[in-house]
Amino acid sequence: MKKLLKILGLVLGVLVLVVLLGAATIQFSGIPSYDTNPPDLKVVPDSASIAEGKRLATLVCNHCHLSTAGKLEGKKMTDLPPAFGAAWTANITHSPNSRLAAYTDGELAYLLRTGVKRDGKYAPPWMPKFPLLSDDDLHSIIAYLRSDAPELEASDKVQPAPKPSFLVKLLCRVAFKPLPYPEKPIMAPPLTDKVAYGRYLIDAKVDCYSCHSADFKTVNILEPEKSEGYLGGGNLLLSPEDGKTVIFSANITMDKETGLGDWTEEDFIQAVRFARRPDGKPLRQPMVPFSALSDEEASAIWAYLQTVPKIHNEVDRGW
Ligand code: HEC
Ligand code: HEC
Repeated sequence: MKKLLKILGLVLGVLVLVVLLGAATIQFSGIPSYDTNPPDLKVVPDSASIAEGKRLATLVCNHCHLSTAGKLEGKKMTDLPPAFGAAWTANITHSPNSRLAAYTDGELAYLLRTGVKRDGKYAPPWMPKFPLLSDDDLHSIIAYLRSDAPELEASDKVQPAPKPSFLVKLLCRVAFKPLPYPEKPIMAPPLTDKVAYGRYLIDAKVDCYSCHSADFKTVNILEPEKSEGYLGGGNLLLSPEDGKTVIFSANITMDKETGLGDWTEEDFIQAVRFARRPDGKPLRQPMVPFSALSDEEASAIWAYLQTVPKIHNEVDRGW
C-alpha cells in the first residue's frame, strides 16, 4: 500500500512538473513564429483603387491604427480586455521606421490573410485577419497604404511592443493558428446579388460577425457562420472610452423579441451608418458609425440578415 502511494505520489509529482515546465515554456517563449511564404505580388495602384482602398481602410483598419493626431501612427488599444494583456496598434505610416516600411506588397497580403508578420511572428487576435476578402479589395487596401493620403504621411512615433498575457500566449498555441494563404483567387459577389453581397460584407469585408457573435474566442474565421451564436450578440466588449464599461454586442438576427425582428430596413440603415437606434438612443463604441458604407451596401446587409437563422438571445444592454 505504502509503495503504491509512493508511486502515485511520484507520478503526480512528474505530471505537475511537466505542466509547470509547459507553462514556463509558453510564458517565456511568447508568441510563436512560423515560416512565411508570401506571394509574388505587385499591386499597380490607380486613383480608383486608392479611393476604394481608403474607404475600406476607414471601415476596417483606421479606427484601430489612427491616432488622435489624425495619423496612422498607432495608439494604445484601450478596449482590450485586461485578460489579454496590453497592446498598441502599429505605426503604418510612410516613415522608414514604421512597422509597415519594410513590407513588400506580397508580405502585406500574407500578413492580412494569414496573420503572420514578415518576421514570421504571429499577430495575436488583436490584429484582425482577412482570409475571405476578395483579391480586388485586398489590393485596394494595399494601393491605399502606398498612397500619399495625409494620414499616411511619415510619423516617427514608436509604439511599445505588445505585452500579451499568458492567456494570449496559450491561445496562440492551441486555438489561434496562422490561416492558410488562399490557393485560388477570391472574387466578391456582385452588389446586385444583394443577399450574397450582404453576406460578403458581414463575413469577409467589415467583420460585423466577429463582434456580433457569442465570443471572440469561438469565432470561426474561415467559416464565419459556424461561429458560436452567429450574429446573436452577447459578446462582452469594453468601451474604448474608459476601457472599463462593459457593452455587450447586440443581437442582430431577426428574432422579434430579442433581435431586429421589429425594425424596418430604414431603421437598420440609420443604425449602421450613423449609430442611432430607432428609439433615438445613440449606439456606443466599440460600435462605430459605418458612414463609409453606402445605403446600397447597408441594404444588402439587411437583405442577408433576413436569411440568417434567428437566435433568441436577450442581451443585457444596460438600459
Ligand atoms: C482591432 C484593431 C486593429 C484593426 C482593425 C487593424 N489592426 Fe493592424 N494591428 C493592430 C495591432 C494591435 C497591431 C500590433 C500587433 C503586434 O505588434 O502584435 C497591428 C499591427 C499591424 C501591422 C504591423 C505588423 C508588424 O509586422 O508588426 C500592420 C502592417 C497592420 N497592422 C495593418 C493593418 C491593416 C492594413 C488593417 C486593415 C485592413 C489593420 N491593420 C486593421 C490592430 C488592428
Ligand atoms: C467592434 C465591434 C463591432 C463591430 C465590428 C460591429 N458592431 Fe454592431 N454593435 C457592437 C456593439 C457593442 C453594439 C451595442 C452598442 C450599444 O449597446 O450601445 C452594436 C450594435 C449594433 C446594432 C444596434 C442593434 C440594437 O438592437 O441596438 C446594429 C444594427 C449593428 N450593431 C450592426 C452592425 C453591422 C451591420 C456591423 C458591420 C457593418 C457591425 N454592427 C459591426 C459592436 C460591433
